Amino acid sequence: MTREIADSLIPILIAPNPILKARARRVSAADADSVRDLVPRMFASMYNAPGIGLAAPQVGIGLRLAVIDLQADDKRDPVVLINPEIVARSPELATREEGCLSIPGQYADITRPARVRVRFEDAGGVRAEIEAEGLLAACLQHEIDHLDGVLFIDHLSALKRNMLMRKLAKEQRLKAEKAL
Ligand code: NI
Repeated sequence: MTREIADSLIPILIAPNPILKARARRVSAADADSVRDLVPRMFASMYNAPGIGLAAPQVGIGLRLAVIDLQADDKRDPVVLINPEIVARSPELATREEGCLSIPGQYADITRPARVRVRFEDAGGVRAEIEAEGLLAACLQHEIDHLDGVLFIDHLSALKRNMLMRKLAKEQRLKAEKAL
């Protein structure tokens, strides 16, 4: 990794952290400069992790902003979502295994609407809409959840969620001990 890239990375918050549970506020015109600075650093942090989506609260910024890149066939296809909202959901559901950079190493099957239509502003502030299914639909819903302080484990039963959180805490503790 070059020094330049390392400098631009932002640490990703790990659950439990109160910032991950807070509702983010809408991006306004006054945020344009910070968003312009933040977006490339969020992409760099996401690719470095590596992951396919990252929401601003995960890097400690309470703004309704997320970046996604599914990197299908190893090709980059970056999407910037500013003030995204789900405007339509299919009645059909789909279940996929999800993970999260804020809950490293933990995965669970999550059931969500199979297709969604999402309205957002792109990096240039232009309003856009995506209709998505499959992995992209799940990823969009997962990232928009982050903006409302919702993590994928919040879709699980309390029993399953507590089990995952205990496992995460234990693994993080071991990792911290190893790093000493
Ligand atoms: Ni996540």
